[in-house]
Amino acid sequence: MKDLRHIASASIEMAARSKYGRASWEDPSHRRDRLTEKAKVRPACGDYYRGTKTPDEITEYYLRGGEQTRFHNAQGQLEALRTQELLARFLPPPPADILDVGGGPGYYARWLATGGYRVTMIDPIPLHVEQAHEAAGREGPEMIARLGDARRLEFPDRSMDAVLEFGPLYHLPAQEDRVRALSEAGRVTKPGGPILVALISRFASLLDGLRLGFIDRPGALAAIAADLRTGEHRNPDRHPAMFTTAYFHHPDEIANDFESAGVTLDHLIAIEGPAWLFSDLQVRLDDPDRRNRLLEAVRLVEAEPRMVGVSAHLMAIGRSSVRATGA
Ligand SMILES: C[S@@+](CC[C@H](N)C(=O)[O-])C[C@H]1O[C@@H](n2cnc3c(N)ncnc32)[C@H](O)[C@@H]1O
Repeated sequence: MKDLRHIASASIEMAARSKYGRASWEDPSHRRDRLTEKAKVRPACGDYYRGTKTPDEITEYYLRGGEQTRFHNAQGQLEALRTQELLARFLPPPPADILDVGGGPGYYARWLATGGYRVTMIDPIPLHVEQAHEAAGREGPEMIARLGDARRLEFPDRSMDAVLEFGPLYHLPAQEDRVRALSEAGRVTKPGGPILVALISRFASLLDGLRLGFIDRPGALAAIAADLRTGEHRNPDRHPAMFTTAYFHHPDEIANDFESAGVTLDHLIAIEGPAWLFSDLQVRLDDPDRRNRLLEAVRLVEAEPRMVGVSAHLMAIGRSSVRATGA
């Protein structure tokens, strides 16, 4: 059994050394034993879900392939470091069955598999599933990656020790869909098992616009005002620099989504806290002492209700409180 906390701190070390914040599985010191193993990725076997469709603009956005480099900049590194820290804190120890819903190209799925978890990840974008297969095959961790949709999980009731939803909840603007996704997570998780959900803060586009200065572009402030008013983020012109169709949660409404799905919300935690806004973030992350102090500072206010909305992403951690209804 491998100690995930050890791997998390090794990954933090690696991020400090690399401009591009590589994760632990890219660190040769962690690959040594796995390089001797044969790649053990089981073949994809899931069909695409009937009755669920990913909107075309979301598919087009992800088919550009940008997810693979999301963690290469300072904001991405901070997000990954903090997310790994929270996974190490809230997941049961390995080995355990983890379902990563909306796993993208498999960054966290591979990291968890490397740490000794039995990981299944699903994603509706075929490119992501292929990329997850390729990377796992290259790096060695055994995991399953296949097509799937958060709103209809093809897994039996109470079959998973924990479920991650790092993406689906912010790509489902309709509350009904979000509640369906959370209910499904609750159904497949064993009683008491954690459900970890990443969300985008309602204030993220405003803060990003101020941070990067794009509030000065024509129309930008009106689009930000619409995000703030409705939480529904759109990019009708498919501007390449803008995110695609998404839902930005107000911190105060998250409990309602969870309650409606029969999932008890235990914690609401700022992932990056205010630190993602610093223009010298990369410099701070590259210095181990400064990075540790920055992470410690983020932890000090990670659960402060008046502060969490300033974070780009939030982590909501819940437990299933409904009885299984049948797969
Ligand atoms: C920003 S990416 C995050 C990927 C990965 N979880 C991570 O944190 O690095 C959001 C992911 O959610 C996936 N997604 C979007 N809608 C989904 C849905 N209805 N069900 C499952 N996944 C979905 C996307 O395909 C994409 O891979």
